[in-house]
Amino acid sequence: MTTLTAAARYSRGAIALHWIMAALIVLNFVLAEMAEDASKDERSILMGNHKAIGITILLFTLVRIGWKLARPAPPLVDTLKAWEAALSKVVHGLFYVLMLAIPLAGWAASSAWGNGAPVDMFGLFGMPALPVEHGKESAGLFGEIHETTAKLMFVLFVLHVLGALKHHFIDRDGTMRRMVPWLK
Ligand code: HEM
Ligand code: HEM
Repeated sequence: MTTLTAAARYSRGAIALHWIMAALIVLNFVLAEMAEDASKDERSILMGNHKAIGITILLFTLVRIGWKLARPAPPLVDTLKAWEAALSKVVHGLFYVLMLAIPLAGWAASSAWGNGAPVDMFGLFGMPALPVEHGKESAGLFGEIHETTAKLMFVLFVLHVLGALKHHFIDRDGTMRRMVPWLK
């Protein structure tokens, strides 16, 4: 088993951002799913929260990119095969692209439907509508992009979690401890 020094962990900020954002992203998938079968009134509440949480995710992503530039990831565990290291780089990179693209496409779809109405941020303030073309066609296009990119994230999420579990339970190589502070 590889020994893990404190220096091989992600920074506290990166760990906090990872788990807060993972929880918010999963919650947003659940809210979108619940909204599908909800009545009109319930749907509007669920989607209102979906949008505000989604914009929060977008803002956190900007902070996270800044954090990543300031505090790069610690070196990978030295027992990783080259293909594993490459695959994790691709998946992590795509997560960053999707954490920007999904909420931006959702915001654009909502702006195209909403006739310039701002997105209500939990009753605290409004995020202005994006300057996109209004109407069904434009909303349909951004909605399509939103849905497809969200589906891709779901596939990557499954791959990412299976990878984390494989490293923890099969390889037992300390990868999970890089991101889970209470694992010794
Ligand atoms: C990372 C953040 C987000 C995730 C993971 C996410 C995920 C999803 C998913 C899975 C759906 C259901 C798609 C379908 O099957 O039709 C959906 C629908 C929707 N989302 Fe998001 N979403 C996010 C952020 C946002 C944001 C920021 C907004 C708007 C401000 C938004 C607005 C919408 C709207 C209006 C729909 C309804 C259907 C559509 O136009 O396609 N989402 N979202
Ligand atoms: C939607 C949810 C998730 C997203 C978007 C996500 C995204 C990421 C990203 C981008 C990284 C690279 C480090 C960084 O830039 O901060 C990472 C690392 C990691 N994630 Fe996740 N993650 C999610 C959920 C999970 C879950 C549920 C687990 C555990 C079962 C997990 C375990 C890990 C581990 C162990 C690492 C460290 C990998 C390494 O560099 O050695 N993640 N995650």
